[in-house]
Amino acid sequence: MFSVSMTSTPRRNLFPAVQHLKPLATFWRSQKTQGAPLERNESYGDSAKTDVEGGGRVRPFEDIPGPKKNFRSIVEFYRKTKGLRRFYKMNQSLFAEHGPIFKNNILGQTMVHITDPDDFEKVFRAEGKFPRRPPVDIWVEHRKRRNYFPGIILLDGEEWHRIRQSIAPKMMRPKIVEENIENFNAVAEDAIARFVKLKEACGPDDHIPDLEGELSRFSTESIGTVAFDTRLGLYEDPPKQEALKFIEMVQAYFELTMKLALSIPSNMVRPYMDTPAMKKFLKAADDILDIGQGFVDNKMRELKEIAEKGIDPSGPTQVVSLLTYLLSKDKLTPEEVNGMAIDVIFAGVDTTSNSLLWLIYHLGRLPHIQEKLYQEVVKVLGKDGDVTSKSLGKLSYLKACLKESMRLCPVLVSNGRILDQDIVLSGYNIPAQTVIAIELYCAARSEKYFKDPLEFRPERWLRENKDEIHAFSNLSFGFGTRMCLGRRVQN
Ligand code: HEM
Repeated sequence: MFSVSMTSTPRRNLFPAVQHLKPLATFWRSQKTQGAPLERNESYGDSAKTDVEGGGRVRPFEDIPGPKKNFRSIVEFYRKTKGLRRFYKMNQSLFAEHGPIFKNNILGQTMVHITDPDDFEKVFRAEGKFPRRPPVDIWVEHRKRRNYFPGIILLDGEEWHRIRQSIAPKMMRPKIVEENIENFNAVAEDAIARFVKLKEACGPDDHIPDLEGELSRFSTESIGTVAFDTRLGLYEDPPKQEALKFIEMVQAYFELTMKLALSIPSNMVRPYMDTPAMKKFLKAADDILDIGQGFVDNKMRELKEIAEKGIDPSGPTQVVSLLTYLLSKDKLTPEEVNGMAIDVIFAGVDTTSNSLLWLIYHLGRLPHIQEKLYQEVVKVLGKDGDVTSKSLGKLSYLKACLKESMRLCPVLVSNGRILDQDIVLSGYNIPAQTVIAIELYCAARSEKYFKDPLEFRPERWLRENKDEIHAFSNLSFGFGTRMCLGRRVQN
């Protein structure tokens, strides 16, 4: 059905944690689908090193293996990352060469990469009350220049905790799906109608021309209803200009984040030079905040009118939107509420559309799985039934397919943490403040943690088989108090 595959170019990355002088410290890298076969002959280095932990001896940080620094290795690095675009391929090959833990030093920044779920667990359990991910410096730069609220993605410590506490009770409770399902169904109906039209236009033997862009449109409109409590208008005919500008600016924002992260000047010169790319980035970032603020201001006017009529919009029995909830809590300023809504868009749009794209790819390749899934959907919903939060709970094969797709092709190929204390990982001492890259992609493709890792096998996630899998081997949504805020919306 769809000719897409595993060789993945990071495109609009979901907050790649690109740091100053650390262009390669890219976590959260989203994968773009491209036409090429799965690489079945790769070795994943499971037996390359033995973990000495448990034997009592803790080895010093300096002993952690990693690539040598010489001209040949730099050329090799460039080649393996396909011109710096596929860092996870590089990490996979370092994993094969050096084993479950390795370190890499790029432009003076040393990072430790871990691939063993036992180590993932240790890191997540040691992260404390205020978990820290490496920041995306260029995003921080924009918010600083604009003197704007940094947002939940970039904040750390007590401030992050305050913001997280103000939104998590709403976003993380199971009812969030029920509260949004009508909006989601309405967007899904519009999207399906558009897909049908596009398919008719291209004929039975051809593909929908820009499926990726179409899924972006779908996820932006869907997540937009959560973030701004309004339809953005991407499915109107013609689409709303403001909505088109919004989606265009969000795309530019991610693309330029990547471009700037990989450009030497922006990584070597502080403060950031106002190169043409930087100016474009700042303009896109400003436009996004301004359009978002427009939605928030509209909602505030609406709430003021409701309040004048004497109704409490955040009353416990009311089904309230996220925006209404945040605005009526009085704990956040309107700027913080807008920053929060924008973060929901940044964090939710690309992750959702890329995950969907991969799922479609797998289902397209494997008609028997597609058929099994179809049968489940028809059984639970009937041929034309709307999805409800109850029916979602019964779609266990759908959930397994999604989970399997996200295992094999995680949108965020690595997560990251910085700990405030030393930790021993795979037998080596890791000093506090070291950037630790949690290599989800490497673990997911390792025979040590998954039987036949390259096979798309949703059955491995069904209840009867689940016990065989390490609980920390597949953390597509992260873990702990800093885990994905949209997790409940996703499954
Ligand atoms: C398939 C889709 C998605 C995937 C794979 C995904 C994955 C992730 C991951 C791995 C993290 C980092 C967690 C950690 O550091 O432990 C994260 C954070 C976050 N996600 Fe998602 N996400 C998805 C969709 C969404 C959606 C739809 C929303 C909003 C409705 C969202 C909002 C957020 C936010 C706000 C954060 C930052 C949380 C914080 O720093 O406190 N995500 N996501």
